[in-house]
Amino acid sequence: MTNLADIRKIYMKGSISLHEMPNEPFSAFKKWMSEAIESQVHEPTAFTLSTSNDGFPDSRVVLLKDFNEKGLVFFTNYNSQKGQQIATNPQIAMNFFWPELERQVRILGIAEKISPEESDKYFYSRPIESQAGAIISLQSSAIDADRNLELETQELLKTPEKIIRPNHWGGINIKPVQFEFWQGRPSRVHDRVRYKLANQLWSKERLAP
Ligand SMILES: Cc1cc2nc3c(=O)[nH]c(=O)nc-3n(C[C@H](O)[C@H](O)[C@H](O)COP(=O)(O)O)c2cc1C
Repeated sequence: MTNLADIRKIYMKGSISLHEMPNEPFSAFKKWMSEAIESQVHEPTAFTLSTSNDGFPDSRVVLLKDFNEKGLVFFTNYNSQKGQQIATNPQIAMNFFWPELERQVRILGIAEKISPEESDKYFYSRPIESQAGAIISLQSSAIDADRNLELETQELLKTPEKIIRPNHWGGINIKPVQFEFWQGRPSRVHDRVRYKLANQLWSKERLAP
């Protein structure tokens, strides 16, 4: 295998200037998300969600399904590890990495469940197979090695009247308090701009790479 220490990339796809960044982070995030989608980044909406697990940070990838100035929304099983960790400590971190654009966005925020009506709206918009899969999976529970979840999903699909959103499956909205936009630059002199929310006002500053 190649010596990992010898793998080196020069980042030169763009730059950001504190002066040119907007005074609030949402329009910058919208612009960067649009550019990630247009650039055909693989899974542009995927982000690493970090939660607290009894003192240990715990991370996994989930998909962003909506965002606006009220927050950023993903969907999951509320009984999963992440769901239980958020119920204990709603302070979370999000990380988007778009390698094709040499960009990273870090967000800190407070997570809370969205309303059952909003969760219904998204749940029933999904393909029926995904709805059935969400019902079958008690996400993050240990299960029998030989259990055939695909077969159980197919069985459930034979009785569509039983396909109802479980109360433990729905959306989580993250109300952000901090954003950091990172753009890779040559010689590791990367550009970083951080926004912080205080007294309902966003401030921005440049950070050393
Ligand atoms: C690309 C990708 C997208 C994923 N999207 C979601 C998602 O939107 N919601 C979700 O609950 N899990 C999603 N997962 C699975 C999670 O990473 C994780 O395995 C699962 O949610 C259980 O996590 P937990 O045990 O920490 O709760 C995704 C995984 C990958 C790799």
